[in-house]
Amino acid sequence: MSRPLRLVAVSGGLQRPSKSAALAEHLSDLIADEIPCEQRLVELGQLAPQLAGAVWRSQLPGTVERELAAVEQADVLVVATPVFRGAYTGLFKHFFDFVHQDALIDKPVLLAATGGSERHALVIDHQLRPLFSFFQARTLPLGVYATDKDFVDYRLHDEALIQRAALAVQRALPLVELMHRARPCLAEEMAAA
Ligand SMILES: Cc1cc2nc3c(=O)[nH]c(=O)nc-3n(C[C@H](O)[C@H](O)[C@H](O)COP(=O)(O)O)c2cc1C
Repeated sequence: MSRPLRLVAVSGGLQRPSKSAALAEHLSDLIADEIPCEQRLVELGQLAPQLAGAVWRSQLPGTVERELAAVEQADVLVVATPVFRGAYTGLFKHFFDFVHQDALIDKPVLLAATGGSERHALVIDHQLRPLFSFFQARTLPLGVYATDKDFVDYRLHDEALIQRAALAVQRALPLVELMHRARPCLAEEMAAA
């Protein structure tokens, strides 16, 4: 591969420390263990004051605009959100409402969520996957869901969760590598069209 993979993890966690951020970083590190990467973590909680008050992208300050651009230019995304009221948070949706509708086409996206209860594990397939389907992204086959009791000191602790995270990344790698290799060709084709 010609250049390092641009790997952007987006955490929808609103607080610091955050279990969603911990999960996003864990998954991101697992990918970086296998492929040379430039890693970046976007923490929506840190952007909240500037992000929440904007209605149009042109109203966003440079700090938020840079994070949006990083997401749009990433080769692969890891997204992790806390479950709020059975779905991703409002701020998570607000951030992705600013992402250009064509910017995530064919981008591999690894989906993850954290909740207080195991009952909301389907948030990944019923909420996150449809959102990224709208963007025509390549959502990866295995998502990773964790609950509060799976963490100790904001680090993954539960062995089943650690194994699930490793499996999700193993299943993701072939597509991530394929899309990364194909991307220069796709860019040339689009420029020629
Ligand atoms: C406003 C609010 C709503 C929540 N709604 C749910 C919910 O519907 N289902 C659930 O399992 N957990 C719910 N939770 C718990 C959080 O999803 C859970 O604690 C999460 O791991 C927090 O992630 P964080 O550490 O990244 O902030 C809610 C928490 C808050 C503050």
